Amino acid sequence: MKRYFIHTFGCQMNVNDSLRMSEALAKMSYEPTPVPDNADLIILNTCAIREKAEDKMLSALGRYRTVKASRKALIGVGGCVAQQEKDKLLKKVPYLDFVFGPDNIAKLPEIIGRVENERERVVETAFVDSEEYVFPRADAETSRGKVTEFVTVMKGCDNVCSFCVVPHTRGREVSRGFTDVLLEVADLARVGVREVTLIGQNVNSYQGGISFAQLLLRTAEVPGIERVRFTTSHPHDLSDELIEAFRTQPKICPHFHLPVQCGSDRILKMMRRDYTVVQYLERLAKLREARPGIAVTTDIIVGFPGETEEEFEMTMQLTEQVRYDNQFSFVFSPRPKTGAALRENDWGPVPHEVKVARLERLQKVQRRISGEYTAALVGSEVEVLVEGHSKYDATKRFGRTPENRTVNFEGDAQAGAIVKVLVERSTPNQLAGKQVALLQGPTVAPVEDPVEPQTCVVAEA
Ligand code: SAH
Ligand code: SF4
Ligand code: F3S
Repeated sequence: MKRYFIHTFGCQMNVNDSLRMSEALAKMSYEPTPVPDNADLIILNTCAIREKAEDKMLSALGRYRTVKASRKALIGVGGCVAQQEKDKLLKKVPYLDFVFGPDNIAKLPEIIGRVENERERVVETAFVDSEEYVFPRADAETSRGKVTEFVTVMKGCDNVCSFCVVPHTRGREVSRGFTDVLLEVADLARVGVREVTLIGQNVNSYQGGISFAQLLLRTAEVPGIERVRFTTSHPHDLSDELIEAFRTQPKICPHFHLPVQCGSDRILKMMRRDYTVVQYLERLAKLREARPGIAVTTDIIVGFPGETEEEFEMTMQLTEQVRYDNQFSFVFSPRPKTGAALRENDWGPVPHEVKVARLERLQKVQRRISGEYTAALVGSEVEVLVEGHSKYDATKRFGRTPENRTVNFEGDAQAGAIVKVLVERSTPNQLAGKQVALLQGPTVAPVEDPVEPQTCVVAEA
């Protein structure tokens, strides 16, 4: 058997795409290896969201060059950088064998066949027309031993956020039919998966035959599924129906990731986000009324072109006002062909040091707020879905609360069980404690540390 190694960068879509690649490779008699050094095929599934993400890909590619030299391994690049750069990537990286975009994963066996047999260097980056696009169905066996899994509900993005490269790399929105989604969820539940996260770049505009809220409700009813999550939502099409689903279905986890990007209406307009801060807060207030205690997280960009000190202060104020559970914050990175990159000079680029200083100030405030949330939980009991052992200490268990807080704890519960944990210590992003009760056992015999293709997927945000 030949061996493959997939290095995954970027978001949940890429993690999920890498699994589909591994399934295609398994059909070609390739097996996964957890280390690149003995691989015959190395695939980098790449992210183009910020310049740093691209740099990371290039440095990883440099490392794999030695494997290529010693073992004649084939090297391919997929994902968003592949889609953006297309054949240019082959010119830039002379030892690269093939380049394929996110729409071409199904063609992977054919691409590799051409590289192996005809010694061709291959580029496949055409988008598939919406009507013709077929979502690959996950092979549930890939997920045996896993407790939580992603399920794709749509691809692409029809928004035009001026900073964002995703519409260029993932094409137009296409929704996956709801029956297909629900069948996949049921397959996953049968192999022991207890939590699913429905994923897409903009799930609120889902149009797969039923509304997104209905899709969540139907997913929650699949036997064996205890927790339902989703990501990502754009605030401008967050419907009342979705908010109501949080009121009525407790299996929809009390966590909402609602990227706001910044606290200034002027900047939001330049970002083409299509909502004001007041509208955003109004949606959030409704959500918190429907599900008190819901954890809210967000994404923030600081140093968008033209952002003044006062406008940055508005983001700081919004952070204090909303009291996010957590934020993912980034300095603005101009991306090729995006509106904000093209107009950066007109709007006034924010100097790098200023951006970085702002980011540090914001992150400090957020760390304090996150720490206040987690510290308040010390002494209380939280419900944890056990995912396996702790990565810090193999004698401890690891899982997450419905609010998506990570918990490392002393206990003996198997992966797939739901337990009560008494919280004894906290850091801003983690809870620690001990198991005090077993609420539910796993639905199937657990497989600790499954040796599945996931072991060779190294995701980095
Ligand atoms: N579809 C998601 C966003 C996916 S990208 C949504 O609309 O919420 C994840 C995050 O990366 C974005 O929310 C944004 O905060 C950040 N991001 C995107 N483009 C960026 C850029 N050019 N520079 C810095 N951060 C960026
Ligand atoms: Fe990018 Fe905006 Fe689409 Fe999110 S909604 S993927 S930020 S264009
Ligand atoms: Fe995801 Fe990065 Fe592409 S965030 S959609 S892998 S640009």
